[in-house]
Amino acid sequence: MSELQLNGVTVSRGAGPVVSDVELVLRRGEILALVGPNGAGKTSLLESVSGVIGHSAGDIRIDGESIAKWKRVQRSRAGIAHIEQGRAIFPSLTVRENLLLTARTDAALQEVLQSFPELEKRIDNQSALLSGGEQQMVVLARAFASKPRFLLIDEMSLGLAPVVFMRLLPVIQQIAESGVGVLLVEQFTHLALGIATDAMVVSSGRVSHPQGPARVLADDEALLRRSYLGG
Ligand SMILES: Nc1ncnc2c1ncn2[C@@H]1O[C@H](COP(=O)(O)OP(=O)(O)O)[C@@H](O)[C@H]1O
Ligand SMILES: [Mg+2]
Repeated sequence: MSELQLNGVTVSRGAGPVVSDVELVLRRGEILALVGPNGAGKTSLLESVSGVIGHSAGDIRIDGESIAKWKRVQRSRAGIAHIEQGRAIFPSLTVRENLLLTARTDAALQEVLQSFPELEKRIDNQSALLSGGEQQMVVLARAFASKPRFLLIDEMSLGLAPVVFMRLLPVIQQIAESGVGVLLVEQFTHLALGIATDAMVVSSGRVSHPQGPARVLADDEALLRRSYLGG
């Protein structure tokens, strides 16, 4: 089984470490929810995995091979896709044009649309005219079209109502079921825990609840609250 592994990963920005000593294993076909309060270091950690920024200690491996020295483009070629926090579609392009940025060929585009039938009827609309939920659907479809092995999702729900975000959950599940390992950072904690296989909490730059079955956190409100406060 293919997996992405972090061992003792520390990420520093400016003055010092913002997140330290992170251990996690992301397996293909599974969803790992990474939750925690604002400023905990979640975005920085994801950025260090996709290569937006470097990490200052520890190792990142795919199937045992260290990718620590790989540039972002190499990691992307190796199948790491990253939906960055606050990054959206190109509003002036149509849905088709947005998807062709990663799908490349019409055949690949048709394949993606089979997994995202809702986008088919909007395919020649300018993306700016789509609802917030539909725009995020395009973001997911565009990432899926790059045929990732591992998909890092950073706060897709920003600016969306919970009911709108809920419509994206089955799509994220479907992406995982197709064999993608999904690392899901999400402010709607319970929605994330509801679809995740595993979950972990980071708080103030530390892992305050280590990776384990998601339902352990989903079923124990007090444990979840303690973890948010730093474990
Ligand atoms: N570009 C940056 N330069 C310096 N410090 C940053 C930068 N981005 C985030 N930080 C700091 O790193 C810490 C972790 O932030 P972040 O990774 O965004 O956490 P989260 O995604 O969990 O809210 C915060 O203290 C934040 O102020
Ligand atoms: Mg963040």
